[in-house]
Amino acid sequence: MQSFLRWVGLVILETFRLNILLTGGLGYVGSHVAVVLTEAGHQVTILDNLSNCKHAVLDRLTKILGKEPTFIKGDVRETSLVESILKTHSIDSVVHFAGLKSVGESVLDPMLYYNNNLIGAISVLKAMQLCRVKKFVFSSSATVYGSPQYLPIDEMHPLNPESPYGKTKLQIELILRDLVASDSGWKVVALRYFNPVGAHDSGLIGEEPNGTPNNLMPYISQVAIGALKRLKIFGSDYETLDGTGIRDYIHVMDLAEGHQAALEYLSEPSEPLSIINLGTGYGCSVLDLLKLYEIASSRRIPFEVTERRPGDIASCYANADKAFKRMGWKSKRSLKNMCEDSWKWQMSQALKK
Ligand code: NAD
Ligand code: UD1
Repeated sequence: MQSFLRWVGLVILETFRLNILLTGGLGYVGSHVAVVLTEAGHQVTILDNLSNCKHAVLDRLTKILGKEPTFIKGDVRETSLVESILKTHSIDSVVHFAGLKSVGESVLDPMLYYNNNLIGAISVLKAMQLCRVKKFVFSSSATVYGSPQYLPIDEMHPLNPESPYGKTKLQIELILRDLVASDSGWKVVALRYFNPVGAHDSGLIGEEPNGTPNNLMPYISQVAIGALKRLKIFGSDYETLDGTGIRDYIHVMDLAEGHQAALEYLSEPSEPLSIINLGTGYGCSVLDLLKLYEIASSRRIPFEVTERRPGDIASCYANADKAFKRMGWKSKRSLKNMCEDSWKWQMSQALKK
């Protein structure tokens, strides 16, 4: 009887097990998604050119998962390589993270971004078309909305990305729209992330910015550990409760679970292309995040208020209802969890040095 039940269990697991290609899967978001999907019983294959991550992430994933994920070093713009991976690993779904993501860098070198992000996405979609693999989850960004015209931002909000980076995200969304209109076999979700922060609670994987961080949470964490002197708060005269900027910070593990929900939703989607915000729906100010981080790290975090950063807006947070309605997903982790897990990751990084 027991062996029969085990056999039934294995058959059920096999039926629901997906073979998923994660492009850019050794990066910050992709590595957390690799953990969530593997732990949910899916088979992941990672393709990454290591342009913005370390090979060591693979060893850390192996430590967390107890087995090494399949990894191929290569560039998504090499269509024949993507094609051969899709065939060799019997891939049925692709999550496309691979891309460059620095807003400032994209302003200085737009061609780098159009080349890597746009040509990369087209190459992956072309390989999928050739292999008849038609389930696709795309890492988009809330940056496609530009300056908010109302809050919270839902998916119907007008689109007006200001940087070349944001424009690549919108252009890929438009390509996806045309693609699903041309062929009813495609099932696509574009996830518009708000501000992913935090790390896996093992402290083994997290965000590793190159050089001085541009984003708030990694900057705060480096001040807390003593690697940077003090946080510069970019403006305290915004029309917000305490005058500092408000954002929708989302724990990277919640975000990762949002990808699992998207892939499972793709087995029976209610529309060929779903565009979905991944945020908490809650806005937090710079000063509030700073205070929460001080508590999580038990350290005082020095700061000074400076000029506004050009291009910054006062407030930005999501209406995250659609994610729940369509995929049954909503964020679970608190700002306290985000700060604690970021701090654990920062401490483990410091110990390695
Ligand atoms: P990341 O830089 O940590 O990860 C991206 C990975 O893609 C890296 O490991 C990099 O080596 C790889 N890569 C880049 N170009 C490649 C190419 N041509 N071929 C193969 N691999 C390539 O970034 P992330 O924070 O994990 O972001 C993942 C995706 O989510 C990106 O597309 C990004 O634009 C998007 N996104 C991120 C954020 C964020 O705040 N982290 C917010 C919104 C959207
Ligand atoms: C930025 C990107 C956005 C990207 C997101 C990823 C820009 C214009 N936008 O968004 O495309 O998706 O990161 O998380 O770069 N702040 C400080 N001091 C600092 C850093 C930030 O006060 O040293 C403030 C900012 O003014 C802002 C808030 O902290 O009010 C959040 O900033 P940041 O983490 O850079 O995120 P965004 O600007 O929202």
